[in-house]
Amino acid sequence: MLPPRRPPRLPLKAIFYDSFLSNGLLLFTAFVIVGAFIVMFRLLNVLIKMQQIQIYKEQGFEAFQEAQARPMENFWNNMYKRWTKVVPVEKEEDILFDHNYDGIKELDNSLPPWWVAMFYITIAFAGIYLFYFHVSGVGKSSKEQYEVEVKKAEIAIAAFQAKQADKVDEENLVPLEKETDIAAGKTLFTTNCVACHGALGEGGVGPNMTDNFWIHGGSVKNIYQTIKNGVPEKGMIAWSNQLRPADMHRLASYILTLQGTNPPNGKAPEGTEFVPEAAATPQDTTATPAEPAAPIGSGQ
Ligand code: HEC
Repeated sequence: MLPPRRPPRLPLKAIFYDSFLSNGLLLFTAFVIVGAFIVMFRLLNVLIKMQQIQIYKEQGFEAFQEAQARPMENFWNNMYKRWTKVVPVEKEEDILFDHNYDGIKELDNSLPPWWVAMFYITIAFAGIYLFYFHVSGVGKSSKEQYEVEVKKAEIAIAAFQAKQADKVDEENLVPLEKETDIAAGKTLFTTNCVACHGALGEGGVGPNMTDNFWIHGGSVKNIYQTIKNGVPEKGMIAWSNQLRPADMHRLASYILTLQGTNPPNGKAPEGTEFVPEAAATPQDTTATPAEPAAPIGSGQ
């Protein structure tokens, strides 16, 4: 219920880096992947050619022709052999250990290259990981990520609360008492209303606000609704398009503090005398010293 406040925003820098980094990174990754596919495809063709030449050298022209007829099949067979280093069953004899445990024999297979490659890839990955998160300072630690999330959530909460503060329960409106609200109401009155209602609320084009005679009712709810909906046919516009509900609430509360102030040049009372309902305003007197004078009736 403080004077109007804007929801805080993420610092511009953070927004920039957030979207720029994530979008840029995504685009870059896509490029890299597409590029890698193209390169791999070309490499595949080269490999196949090389393999055919190899076959030509080792097995003669006929085998070469056959390899040319089914390039892919030959290529994959070859690849499989190379990456698994499988020893054909006929040759297992060569790599058999000479020990024998109750009939269980052991082959001396070498590690399959695909497995070794994965091992090296994990080592390389560890290096990249270490550099990214611990050396370069680019990667955020879990703690930093957590803090960023908390900050975002706090901003979202503040935005939500600022919105909530705008809501006014019109049915159960009570005059605001906080000095900050009254001061904000006064500022709003000075900016928007004095032209017609006078700097002290003494009246002019519009009626006097300091007496307890009202055309449209003098409860905080009445005043709020007059401000909100206006009386367009009489020259009092509806302010709901220009002022937030919370501000109209502050204005209505401020106007009530003018009761009984009896400014010079007060406009003659208009409307009917407003008698507050007994239950409506017992504690109003605490923060608004001008209030108690109101019921006495200050209209000449
Ligand atoms: C262009 C002139 C004009 C401005 C600016 C204006 N008013 Fe009014 N206001 C009037 C007139 C005229 C009336 C009387 C309407 C009627 O006779 O029904 C009125 C009536 C009212 C009433 C009802 C008074 C009663 O006796 O019931 C309230 C409350 C009020 N205005 C508040 C405000 C506030 C708050 C603002 C500033 C946000 C404001 N007015 C700005 C012209 C204005």
